[in-house]
Amino acid sequence: MHPSEIQERVLLDHENLRTRLAMIESLSQRAGDGEVYALDQLRDRGDELCRKLGRHLDLEDLHLVPLIQETRGREAAQQLAAEHREQRLLFDFVLDRLRDAKRPTRLICREMQAFIDLLRDDMDLEEEELVLAAENASA
Ligand SMILES: [Fe+2]
Ligand SMILES: [Fe+2]
Repeated sequence: MHPSEIQERVLLDHENLRTRLAMIESLSQRAGDGEVYALDQLRDRGDELCRKLGRHLDLEDLHLVPLIQETRGREAAQQLAAEHREQRLLFDFVLDRLRDAKRPTRLICREMQAFIDLLRDDMDLEEEELVLAAENASA
């Protein structure tokens, strides 16, 4: 895949993920305020996000990691791949807690918020790197 195409697909995915994260953040806040209905919806949306995020990370592992290796070297590529493994594990962990009806909702919502913040920061950083990588690749 051409670097500009990788960039385009990653940016599109990020845009979709950001929309989902905003929805999940709002549900999580409402659930934290005691809305039982919002908690049920949060579980459904959380599972959905897990599938979308999984596919996004697959795409990045397949195309972005090799591009980063080409433009920024092996270490940077390995670091990105490791971050992706960490994100998968972390979100699986948050979802497991979300499904556990015995857990205090406020605690679950705080963990969800931490994951949302992390993923947003990660996407911002990744986009900066992507611009540099695409520039270097086409130079
Ligand atoms: Fe990523
Ligand atoms: Fe990403």
